[in-house]
Amino acid sequence: MSKATHLECSLCNKRLEAGQVVNLCDCGGPLLVRYDLERIRRHWKRREVHLGPPTMWRYAPLLPPVNDSIITLGEGWTPLLFARRLGARLGARHLWIKDEALNPTGSFKARGMACAISMCAELGIRKVAVPSAGNAASALAAYAAVAGIEAHIFLPQDVPEANYLESKAYGARVTLVNGLISDCARIASECAVREGWYDLSTLKEPYRIEGKKTMGFEVAEQLDWELPDAIFYPTGGGVGLIGMWKAFEEMEQLGWIGSRRPKMIAVQAEGCQPVVRALEENEPRARFWEGARTVASGLRVPKPLGDFLVLEAVRKSRGTAIAVSDAEMLDAGIQMASEEGVFPAPEGAACAAALEKLLVSGFLGPDDRIVLYNTGSGLKYAEAYATRFPRAASAEQDKLGGLITPR
Ligand SMILES: Cc1ncc(COP(=O)(O)O)c(C=O)c1O
Ligand SMILES: [Zn+2]
Repeated sequence: MSKATHLECSLCNKRLEAGQVVNLCDCGGPLLVRYDLERIRRHWKRREVHLGPPTMWRYAPLLPPVNDSIITLGEGWTPLLFARRLGARLGARHLWIKDEALNPTGSFKARGMACAISMCAELGIRKVAVPSAGNAASALAAYAAVAGIEAHIFLPQDVPEANYLESKAYGARVTLVNGLISDCARIASECAVREGWYDLSTLKEPYRIEGKKTMGFEVAEQLDWELPDAIFYPTGGGVGLIGMWKAFEEMEQLGWIGSRRPKMIAVQAEGCQPVVRALEENEPRARFWEGARTVASGLRVPKPLGDFLVLEAVRKSRGTAIAVSDAEMLDAGIQMASEEGVFPAPEGAACAAALEKLLVSGFLGPDDRIVLYNTGSGLKYAEAYATRFPRAASAEQDKLGGLITPR
């Protein structure tokens, strides 16, 4: 029934039949969905894409669920905003922000979960489990709700309040774990095996990445099929970056784009930068980052499962990986809000902070065409931004422009 021709292991290249309930390959490698691109190329032209809906499902021929299984809340086809004022201050004349905050549940995670939950519906899966840094939980909870699927979510206990409240409101079974996402992943996996739930952990199933890759199709279409020179992507698990890289490959095989690729720039937090370290040390895989700490909860991933795929895309594209501090993220977030009207997640803000550094170092120039991914909404991070705008009891003279109280 599945539209995919087969699944392929990203480590050992083993092929598996499509349309079955699977997690990882026997060798431990993540499985990727493959399509008959030659056939799609003959039947579906680039010029027809705009006839599709204003959601990520405009690319449905390159997504695994059949049309009848699609469960959607209108995810994708987010705006690509020209960032004139931010660009002028930083010295980048052709700068855009891809604003993923406009997705259902306020982050790009909606794309992956829409695709994965659609596939769960197609494959008859009724119960799922996921460990999450926060935004994936919100997204899973919403799509599971609309699909009538039972969702078990494992979150670090210091997850942003908004993600916790959303997950509960959407009716998910939430477990708070005293630890990091890596601890959540271990517990979720143990429970999933014991209870027979399908493990929807990032890259432990083949479908979330398929939804996320649509960020790559969209940036191409929105730039009239001319990819930018550089893409900044906040990298935790790195699945958005790997997904876009896969999308570029698929588009090239369809004849929609050429072989030129943007420099892929993986942005991490100073307090958790396993990919940056692996790149610096010229290693194919990342080592576990001890004591991971950052307000950008989505970047607090000490050992991404798809590290080798992120590093491969970064290297092949002649991009780089760079870390920024939490203070730099919050500063950049407030600047993006006040200059562009986009209040970003700290993860998205990290991209602007990283851009500033790479323009100063000369890695990028003022004429490069650059896209920053704001992967989520700043509204989810009230605790982090509140540190910049404390609401202490104000004195009378401060009340104009502040809080007005009755006398
Ligand atoms: C807002 C935000 N940005 C980025 C990420 C990192 O995503 P990826 O797994 O694609 O690296 C996350 C993950 O939780 C996130 O919530
Ligand atoms: Zn394998």
